[in-house]
Amino acid sequence: MDIQVIILAAGKGSRMKSQLPKVLHQLAGKPLVQHVIDSCHSMGAQHCHLVVGHGAEKVKQKVKGNGVELTFVEQTEQLGTGHAVKMTLDGLKDDTATLILYGDVPLIHHDTLSQLVDLQQNSPTGIALMTCFLDDPTGYGRITRDANNEVTGIVEHKDATDLQRQINEVNTGIMCCNSTQLKQWVGQLNNDNAQGEYYLTDIIAMAVADGNQVTAAQPVELYEVEGINTLQQLAELERVWQLKMARDLMAAGVTLRDPNRFDLRGTLVCESDVVIDINCVFEGKVIIKQGASIGPNSYLKDCTVGQNSQIKANSVIEEANIDAECSVGPFARLRPGTHLSKDSHVGNFVEIKKSTLGQGSKAGHLAYIGDSQVGKNVNIGAGTITCNYDGANKHQTIIEDGAFIGSDSQLVAPVRIGKNVTIGAGTTVTADVSDDALCISRVKQKQIEGWKRPTKQQK
Ligand code: UD1
Ligand code: CA
Repeated sequence: MDIQVIILAAGKGSRMKSQLPKVLHQLAGKPLVQHVIDSCHSMGAQHCHLVVGHGAEKVKQKVKGNGVELTFVEQTEQLGTGHAVKMTLDGLKDDTATLILYGDVPLIHHDTLSQLVDLQQNSPTGIALMTCFLDDPTGYGRITRDANNEVTGIVEHKDATDLQRQINEVNTGIMCCNSTQLKQWVGQLNNDNAQGEYYLTDIIAMAVADGNQVTAAQPVELYEVEGINTLQQLAELERVWQLKMARDLMAAGVTLRDPNRFDLRGTLVCESDVVIDINCVFEGKVIIKQGASIGPNSYLKDCTVGQNSQIKANSVIEEANIDAECSVGPFARLRPGTHLSKDSHVGNFVEIKKSTLGQGSKAGHLAYIGDSQVGKNVNIGAGTITCNYDGANKHQTIIEDGAFIGSDSQLVAPVRIGKNVTIGAGTTVTADVSDDALCISRVKQKQIEGWKRPTKQQK
């Protein structure tokens, strides 16, 4: 079905007390308005009209269609929700179901949106309105109904009588109607009300007066229609969302040591018997294979952790591939382009970048491995550094199978260390080393007997 979407996102959000436009504040690692656009895509919408105003340029830069064609419509002065919709009317196709959403109501689910559109399609000349029931409806527009319980209109809190303020069915702002009718109704709006604004909500009474039906529907979950006005609300909704993600993972067989201390800012795909300790952050797309475990305080972004591999506490892993049966950390840092083959081990304070560690190889402590190909069963001693950068260019280090790199060695790239080579501790390797050799570049030790330390001069 052809659906047009209007997303209102021009408001200032002054209660956020921030330079950043409100709709660009992030929830689960994604701008608020991006959540809305992505839900529209999941629902099958092809086109979104995004009304921008405050920080319009920043919003245009940051927001992505992700499969939805975006039209940015500027509302230079925020004269109300009705005025905001008015800005989009020229670009709206006639006689098409049109869904109106808010850029600061991020968690609306695409199934809920589909249901609202379906509801509107059942009486195509009417309006389908998303409402909800709140214990404390203060501030919201109230839904008025007649004796037959049919919706008759929306009255804004500031315009409502004391009696109307007792109504606890409120307007979420989300609605769906026919675009041709929307154009007619919005054209008739005035700003004769307590706030001097063009209220979109006034179209409800107009539709009813024209003999059209207004049907109300409620979201499955209340959080779906929660709007963000303050940083506190943002933080609270973030927790609600994270807890939901945590519960979904637990239901799928993932052990979370504490679902309250879990953060997902992207997608996390876990096989069975994965254990995730507290305070881990997952960004981008992370895949964790069967039986793997993630230690506390770890950060994983766009990476794969292989079967039964263990990531120990406080590790930072970005754009890395870790095969099965590996152990990483505590305090390891795997940077983009790292590939750990099966059974390899990376210990504390080891940094690896754009490098492959072969099967069974180990770098247990305090090392930097960059732009390197490390073969199988290699042992990299503590303090080993690949000197991959000459100040201008990066160079490769190749370490063949079975090599042993003694502690505190520097491998000045480009350089090749042959099979089963032994590098003595403290060596600076500047030339290729052939298979099976011992390479050592250490100043011979000398000893001076009875050595007297200098003493401090008297003044
Ligand atoms: C609006 C509704 C109210 C509803 C509430 C739900 C109206 C008149 N009132 O009230 O019935 O209960 O939302 O949260 O519609 N915006 C623009 N341009 C403008 C004004 C607003 O783009 O000129 C955008 C805002 O950025 C925001 C949304 O529209 O995303 C809602 O605006 P807001 O001022 O928060 O409306 P409320 O007064 O809360
Ligand atoms: Ca609001």
